[in-house]
Amino acid sequence: MQKKLDELMEKRAAARLGGGQKRIDAQHAKGKMTARERIDLLLDDGSFEEFDMFKSHRCTSFGMEKTQFPGDGVVTGYGTIDGRLIYIYAQDFTVLGGSLSETLAEKICKVMDLAIKNGAPLIGLNDSGGARIQEGIEALAGYSDIFLRNVMASGVVPQISVILGPCAGGAVYSPALTDFIVMIKGNSYMFLTGPKVVKSVTHEDVTVEELGGADMHSSQSGVADYAAEDGKEALAYVERLLSFMPQNNVESPPVVLSDDPLERRAEQLNSLIPDNPNAAYDMKEVILSTVDNGDFLEVKEHFAPNIIIGFARFNGQPVGIVANQPMVLSGVLDINSSVKAARFVRFCDCFSIPVVTFVDVPGFLPGTNQEYNGVIRNGAKILYAYAEATIPKVTVVTRKAYGGAYCVMSSKHLRGDINYAWPTAEIAVMGGKGAVEVLYGREAKEKSNPEKFLADKEQEYLDAVANPYVAAQRGYIDDIIEPARTRFRIVKALGMLQNKQESNPMKKHGNIPL
Ligand code: HXC
Repeated sequence: MQKKLDELMEKRAAARLGGGQKRIDAQHAKGKMTARERIDLLLDDGSFEEFDMFKSHRCTSFGMEKTQFPGDGVVTGYGTIDGRLIYIYAQDFTVLGGSLSETLAEKICKVMDLAIKNGAPLIGLNDSGGARIQEGIEALAGYSDIFLRNVMASGVVPQISVILGPCAGGAVYSPALTDFIVMIKGNSYMFLTGPKVVKSVTHEDVTVEELGGADMHSSQSGVADYAAEDGKEALAYVERLLSFMPQNNVESPPVVLSDDPLERRAEQLNSLIPDNPNAAYDMKEVILSTVDNGDFLEVKEHFAPNIIIGFARFNGQPVGIVANQPMVLSGVLDINSSVKAARFVRFCDCFSIPVVTFVDVPGFLPGTNQEYNGVIRNGAKILYAYAEATIPKVTVVTRKAYGGAYCVMSSKHLRGDINYAWPTAEIAVMGGKGAVEVLYGREAKEKSNPEKFLADKEQEYLDAVANPYVAAQRGYIDDIIEPARTRFRIVKALGMLQNKQESNPMKKHGNIPL
């Protein structure tokens, strides 16, 4: 018996070494952790249970039958994070560059199936040279099997991808199908085709970092939700993300005990809005001063920063926050900000996380660039997302809510449950200047002082229309609230809405304008 036990221990020890000490050292020399070190860091101590440690590939081409590593380039299993069950796979770059074989895909699919069946989040730690070149079609089949499961799991369990090394070619599409992608600066990259292929096809000279690094993806493409400084910070971000999410689409999000008084006033909000309607202020101040303990986990901070999205809590209850940011492009809605917010609202709706929306938006961004790139199709996404969402929706208009942008930003008409406005709100079809140009432009030309005439008319328009009272008279705004009491009013509204039941007409699925 002892002999057999010793043999098991030996085999386990060999499997734990992955591609061997030399390759582990090479991984460390690049400033990277191994798959097992990453799992150890992310999961609660001693909670990891591994599957398929002895599984190995079946490839016999190119002498591969002699190149065997137990576990075959990925470590899979389950464990807990902050005491809550998760399923995980971590690609092991020390084994054939973490490249994806048929068997490696089978290991990943096994944990994906378990995650769906048992209703717990799936976390993928990616560090791989892509499809295993020696295998060919089997590797492609393996990727496709993973993609299918990503789609089946979407909206059923939260899926988070962390890119901790290379992620190239078709391999990018599994992370792309998941809910959040976290990358690390300088040591992770994602692209469909690498710099050499780019050079030969488009003659562009581009570095790996420029083409698919964390900075690029978190600011320009919007593919990544967060660019961490290193692997440790990336995993800490994952832990924070999970703390706001339920385990699956039938559970409620985890409520924690809050020590932040519900009635805490934020006096500074009473003087936050500048007298000049065109002057900016920082919407993050509104968010930070109203949510529990100023604790806000921002997502996609550097992509389309004219809209802010992220997670926070009110009285311990997780919420998604969406807010226009007047500090960037006056908080205008454009293609990127619409898509950013739409996807976030849909995530929250999938997982029963209420959405609180702070509105200060002058409208949609005009111009050929936006029109040519489909601001109509893309702007419709945010409208669609808010309209179909059945989660509790609380909206606070702090200043501008003009035109189509008023409609789309969680208005009453899109089933906003509670819609508040600050006394500084301006809710109208369009800004004063534009409105009087249309209404009085011709008449102004006949006046001795057209500028003064238009300025007077603009003031008249603003006094009559651009305030919250007209909308409140119609019931489109439920109340006009004191800014300093915004936290309390939101907490009360969310409490009132906690048992909200709403559903959409039966359908296979809608057809969001993609
Ligand atoms: C088999 C691979 C591999 C792969 C790396 N290795 N990628 N083995 N298939 N795809 C092996 C190497 O041979 C090496 O083995 C070890 O992993 C480490 O690789 P290095 O090249 O030494 O590491 P590094 O210098 O850090 O470079 C990493 C890399 C490079 C940039 C990822 O390895 C590379 O370019 N790999 C190929 C990438 C690629 O073209 N993949 C296919 C994409 S197409 P030893 O034994 O020396 O340790 C694709 C289609 C998917 O993925 C479609 C799905 C729909």
